[in-house]
Amino acid sequence: METLVQTPAAVRKLYIESYGCAMNFSDSEIIASIMGENGFEPTQDEFDADVIFLNTCAIRDNAEQRIRERLKHLRANKKQNRDLIIGVLGCMAERLKDKLLEEEKLVDVVAGPDSYRELPKLVAEVDEGARAINVLLSREETYGDLNPVRLNSNGVSAFISIMRGCDNMCSFCVVPFTRGRERSRDPESILREAKELAIAGYKEITLLGQNVDSYLWFGGGPKKEFKNLSEEEKSQAVDFADLLEMTALAVPEMRIRYSTSHPRDIDEKVVKTMARFKNICNYIHLPAQSGNSRVLDMMSRNYTREWYMEKVKMIRDILPDCGISCDIIAGFCTETEDEHQDTLSLMEWSQFDFSYMYKYSERPGTPAAKKLADDVPEDVKGRRLQEIIALQNEISKTRNQRYIGQVVEVLVEAESKRSADEWMGRNDQNIVTVFPKENYQKGDLVKVLVESASTTTLRGRAVGRVEWL
Ligand code: SAH
Ligand code: SF4
Ligand code: F3S
Repeated sequence: METLVQTPAAVRKLYIESYGCAMNFSDSEIIASIMGENGFEPTQDEFDADVIFLNTCAIRDNAEQRIRERLKHLRANKKQNRDLIIGVLGCMAERLKDKLLEEEKLVDVVAGPDSYRELPKLVAEVDEGARAINVLLSREETYGDLNPVRLNSNGVSAFISIMRGCDNMCSFCVVPFTRGRERSRDPESILREAKELAIAGYKEITLLGQNVDSYLWFGGGPKKEFKNLSEEEKSQAVDFADLLEMTALAVPEMRIRYSTSHPRDIDEKVVKTMARFKNICNYIHLPAQSGNSRVLDMMSRNYTREWYMEKVKMIRDILPDCGISCDIIAGFCTETEDEHQDTLSLMEWSQFDFSYMYKYSERPGTPAAKKLADDVPEDVKGRRLQEIIALQNEISKTRNQRYIGQVVEVLVEAESKRSADEWMGRNDQNIVTVFPKENYQKGDLVKVLVESASTTTLRGRAVGRVEWL
């Protein structure tokens, strides 16, 4: 009888750098898993790496400029190690495709968000002397069966992707082009991942999707509306509120967060589910983008200012102490001064805890780039953005000050950046909170009495552990 002796392939080192949104950071963990099964182990030292992957973002022009700068620096690594393989993955890879290989001579591999299973093959092609590319988008890939390898993790909180792609086509946005059609992941695989994280000692998960409110599982395949499902599909359909409930029940000892909600789609069912479960955090990221209905229409956001305000009111009625954050774009095509004022007044009315605020950046190929003039001058965009930021800072400060004298629940994530004697974590509403360590440990859920508050941070002292954990 012949015995097969398998010699283990030499371990090669993989260094991954992630840019952009949480979905990209989550994808890097999938990439590490796929590469890990093929003889690559992660390293934190880029100079020790045999393969360097940049998992890139294309959302604004400056995101891409950062990657180009980074690639320039990587020339030095390649000089030191001629066998070093450099790959550009993610949204910029998908947007630029083979142009990247033409423009950036040192890039060996280009792979889009749906082709990560092919990475080992692409690297093998480079080993053979070729340059390799795969940017095919899929209508089905969710990587649901993989076990992500947690990278740069604090061991306390982790992301779980529940869907991929986006079908919304907001006119300014490149994501539908870089991440393809929306598809939802099998709830069983999501719950399995959540339970595995609980067993590994994690205390918090964030369910991720570009528009979580349109999550719908009915047995797999491309997205469909609920009304178009067959009777059999309807009987097994799981929507986002159902998924939240299933997750809250599956891991009752973990805190659950999610992002991102869409103002058009978020409904009472989701918010009421949040209210029913103690372990679902009272926090919603609800990007408005603009406070003016004409601009929202040009953005193809499919809601008006009034609709957005109704949604905020609905949330505050059901969950009075819910944290709400926002994304805002300053100086979108044709935005007038009055329309900009509408954004400021919406912010004032909504009292967002914090916001991510950007100047509009035209992205080639998007509906806005094709049909609308990017006609707000750069200095006007800049000034409007500054006004938006100044107002948000004021609101954040007032909002945070309301916690002074109150006890908040903080999950300890890491040492505070400023002091080795203090812990840093977030309260239920996702506000960073810092307090003296005393005998508390990373991963503890701690009651903190808030003593002071700045625009970004609450400070206080621990007054005990939270019971339900
Ligand atoms: N799916 C999420 C957002 C994903 S992109 C949602 O729909 O809300 C994150 C944020 O980047 C967006 O909310 C938007 O505020 C901003 N953004 C997207 N495209 C942009 C562009 N072309 N210029 C400036 N900001 C942009
Ligand atoms: Fe982009 Fe709109 Fe999709 Fe968000 S919902 S990812 S802004 S297209
Ligand atoms: Fe950027 Fe892609 Fe996320 S463009 S914001 S990394 S989906």
